[in-house]
Amino acid sequence: MTYTDKDGKFKRYTVTTALPYANGPIHIGHMAGVYVPADIYCRYLRLQGEQVFFIGGSDEHGVPVTIRAKKEGCTPQDVVDRYHGIIKKSFEDFGMTYDIYSRTTSETHRQTASDFFVKLFNDGKFIEQTTQQYYDEAEHTFLADRYIVGTCPVCGNEHAYGDQCEKCGSSLNATDLINPKSALSGNAPVLKETKHWFLPLNEYESFLKDWILENHKEWKTNVYGQCKSWLDNGLQPRAVTRDLDWGIKVPVAGAEGKVLYVWFDAPIGYISNTIEKLGDKWRQWWQDKDTKLVHFIGKDNIVFHCIVFPAMLKAHGDFILPENVPANEFLNLEGNKISTSRNWAVWLHEYMEDFPDKQDVLRYVLCANAPETKDNDFTWKDFQTRNNSELVAILGNFINRTVVLTHKYFEGKVPACYELNDVDKKAIEEIATYPEKIGTLIETYKFRDALFELMNLARLGNKYLTENEPWKTVKTDARRTSTVLNVSLQICANLAVLCEPFLPFSAKKLQNMLNLSVCSWTQAGGVNILETNHTVNKAELLFERIEDEAVQKQIDKLQDTKNKNKAQVLQQLSDTPTQKPQKANISYDLFEQMDIRTGVIVSAEKVAKTKKLLKLTVDTGIDRRTIVSGIAEYYSAEEVVGKRVAVLMNLEPKQLKGIESNGMILMAENAEGELSFVSTQKEFGAGCEIR
Ligand code: MF3
Ligand code: ZN
Repeated sequence: MTYTDKDGKFKRYTVTTALPYANGPIHIGHMAGVYVPADIYCRYLRLQGEQVFFIGGSDEHGVPVTIRAKKEGCTPQDVVDRYHGIIKKSFEDFGMTYDIYSRTTSETHRQTASDFFVKLFNDGKFIEQTTQQYYDEAEHTFLADRYIVGTCPVCGNEHAYGDQCEKCGSSLNATDLINPKSALSGNAPVLKETKHWFLPLNEYESFLKDWILENHKEWKTNVYGQCKSWLDNGLQPRAVTRDLDWGIKVPVAGAEGKVLYVWFDAPIGYISNTIEKLGDKWRQWWQDKDTKLVHFIGKDNIVFHCIVFPAMLKAHGDFILPENVPANEFLNLEGNKISTSRNWAVWLHEYMEDFPDKQDVLRYVLCANAPETKDNDFTWKDFQTRNNSELVAILGNFINRTVVLTHKYFEGKVPACYELNDVDKKAIEEIATYPEKIGTLIETYKFRDALFELMNLARLGNKYLTENEPWKTVKTDARRTSTVLNVSLQICANLAVLCEPFLPFSAKKLQNMLNLSVCSWTQAGGVNILETNHTVNKAELLFERIEDEAVQKQIDKLQDTKNKNKAQVLQQLSDTPTQKPQKANISYDLFEQMDIRTGVIVSAEKVAKTKKLLKLTVDTGIDRRTIVSGIAEYYSAEEVVGKRVAVLMNLEPKQLKGIESNGMILMAENAEGELSFVSTQKEFGAGCEIR
């Protein structure tokens, strides 16, 4: 039984973590926001003797996966296979204690999500709506919002996506874009009718208001606030299907070419994964009122976990609802937003290479800095400081001193505890408060504060040792030294239990050092964990200093990324004209209608009062004609005389500044917008046909 559930309200805990998209590896932002807190929570509950089922998995559907596949020239399945492997490994490396880590491309999941849809479909919980969607006629496919690029109506950015402008952050509808283009073919998409199934969220509004706004006032303010704003603004029906060929096929007739929307199937993945692991026994974790369901997520997932998924569960009818959704804000990196596409991140698999066996250091820093109430910043300097002046100087130092002294004075045996003085009694009283203090903070999702309290226990140990100076009393009062080291060792043992949720690898080492087998939180709090004469092993370092060079290497790596990104942006800018997508096809007939020939410029003069125009006289082989050309910024009148050029002969005549222009000189334009004549490679004279 745990502290906030003293009435024994819940018999077991189902704990989920947002299923990461399998289109990239895991970075520190994911860990700090979702995975580290969730693992701390589950480890703690298990130490409390609670029954926990801890669920993870990869989210393998959705448009981002198909975009990645397209970029890399492979199939979506290739993409998710690769990243599922990398992500799963990272989670194992960092000590995530999942009961299952599976994936949404599993057969169990396909079946579970399909059944869920069919039940809602049969029960009449969906509405069918025909809407207009952008369609790419060349590629014969409807376009996901992400596949439509155009000009942002808010800021004018020409590379805005159909769902969002990444320049100004506006969230958009594809139909808002000015001059929309398909990212697949480059063509302008057309609007075409398509039928989809919608969950009428508006019908769940009053249920949601009551459930969240009235009955879950204890939710974190950032979560409660977002829910309130959604609910106050009024809910709309949401499409739960998409026109896409990657995903779970909509399992009803008349839905060819359609799949379940990724945000419909992904949260069902929590249930599928439970079924995959437990078979028939899955129900008690999802359908029994005595089960407490908790979703760990990042703030961008709040609406899906607090509004959409609960509405789905409610519509289905057989499921419990989440008791809490402790969403975190975002972690930034060295002052900038973490970005997978710009490679602005610390990737777990790379961290493991650069800092092997230092998973706890990262877990510690990410928890100490977790963006629980506001966005937070990760810096390598702070990483170093927290390691050197907290883990090494406070926690590691206290344990090391205690164990070393025990070996020095008592041959590694826990010395007896004799008379306690007031200082001892006060320390012991304080020690007793920690398990509940830390436990309550964990249960209320205040992981940073919980970790801070854990460190306070180590601080208490250091202070106790320093003030009582057992190395001095050893000559004058051996019983005093014995008592002080006994109490100090008991503090070490308390730390060995209480640090396990946060620092599991170090906890293991510490437990081995103390020859202590830990199995429960209730072991902590007292000063009789280690019996007198119990042997402890030799001190081994739990943490080591991280030097400037190691940290500088990481900072340099990020600077490198910054430079590369800058170079890439410049490259893109200069590439833009050549990247213009090809125009729509024309018939040969249309081409044949153009009369293009070689010509030679025989005379030229600047057109008065214009910056760009030259009046040219051109020998075309059949005549000498006047052509006005906008090239004066790139060629002077003098230098063009005698130039061999290409002429579009039959362009209809046009008056330019009062001069009749007959035809057009063809020009090539480079990335900088500079113009150049186009001429034959061999020195052909005027009048040759160009075909
Ligand atoms: N893949 C989503 C994301 O990374 C999270 C999905 S959570 C689930 O934002 F509920 F859908 F599983
Ligand atoms: Zn914009």
